[in-house]
Amino acid sequence: MIAGAARRLLLGVADSERIRARVVGTPATRAVVDRYVAGDSASDAVRVARALRADGLLVSLDYLGEDTTDAERAAATVSEYVQLLGQLAAEGLSDGGAVEVSVKPTAVGLLLGAEGGGPSALGEKIATEHIEKIAIAARDAGTTVTLDAEDHKTTEAGLRIAAALRSRLPQVGSVVQASLRRTEADVRALAAPGVRMRLCKGAYAEPVSEAFAAAHDVDKSFARCLRILMSGPGYPMIATHDPRLIAITRSLSLNRGPDSFEYQMLYGIRPDEQRRLAASGARMRVYVPYGSDWYRYLVRRLAEQPANLAFFLRSLSSLS
Ligand code: FDA
Repeated sequence: MIAGAARRLLLGVADSERIRARVVGTPATRAVVDRYVAGDSASDAVRVARALRADGLLVSLDYLGEDTTDAERAAATVSEYVQLLGQLAAEGLSDGGAVEVSVKPTAVGLLLGAEGGGPSALGEKIATEHIEKIAIAARDAGTTVTLDAEDHKTTEAGLRIAAALRSRLPQVGSVVQASLRRTEADVRALAAPGVRMRLCKGAYAEPVSEAFAAAHDVDKSFARCLRILMSGPGYPMIATHDPRLIAITRSLSLNRGPDSFEYQMLYGIRPDEQRRLAASGARMRVYVPYGSDWYRYLVRRLAEQPANLAFFLRSLSSLS
């Protein structure tokens, strides 16, 4: 695993427009994108979802995009999700939550009106209304919606939006990041019957005041949160590719039924393990992103894996 400092550096410099243009323009990039992203269009996403369902896997579809400060773009993202859910329902793919959607609050307006610090009250109101529309479309399609977790400045608002909607639309799930110091307390506070809670390590570069810097501290936090979730009344969604954490999940699951929680992994990462877990009778969901706005998602995946990092550095070394 690459050092946390190198990972944070990569996540930081990747926001430069010059670097973005270079990486996006490198011919080899497409092959890397294709490993992690289903394609540009909703029909690509539905095609991949259909194939994964045929292999016994559950799916969460994510329309790529984040940090929008354009109100029209935020509204267009909502329309994309509503249409996608209609398409999934028409094909019977969303029945019983088999294919659901994941939504980033900042893609649907959370940062509208923000000035540097965190989200504004206006942004939170718009994002709540937008997510409610998506959640109603999900309910009508017989499925669920999960609100992705983004950087720590959006954590409080993201959890608040999910809590506000959950009383009317219980299929709205939340994501918590083991990397954040606050998460263990959040996990305890959110434990309630049926609440859908995804636990992941966290993919963002965060200040040490907010997050654990060392990978082993993140792993220990993950294990603590995992124990709370797996012994609680909610529906845990354990999102990791880490073999040790998967083994701990399996041993903790012996006290609860296989339908009372699920494993989650990203499209393109450890696909054999995904199929192995599904074949063993576990609920295994694959997170499948699609859309043309893949750059930031790709950078997060590259930052997690040393072999991928070499690809990124090659693109940078040709910067003049
Ligand atoms: P870790 O990074 O330690 O990887 C464990 C092993 O998995 C590696 O040794 C390698 O074998 C394999 N692996 C991991 N990443 C790889 C890669 N990119 N390419 C190839 N192999 C790789 N984050 C967030 O901040 N907000 C969110 O909402 C979500 N949502 C989410 C949903 C789902 C379904 C998953 C699986 C993950 C997320 N994440 C996320 C991302 C998460 O926070 C984390 O960054 C990644 O899952 C990588 O962490 P692991 O737990 O896999 O461990």
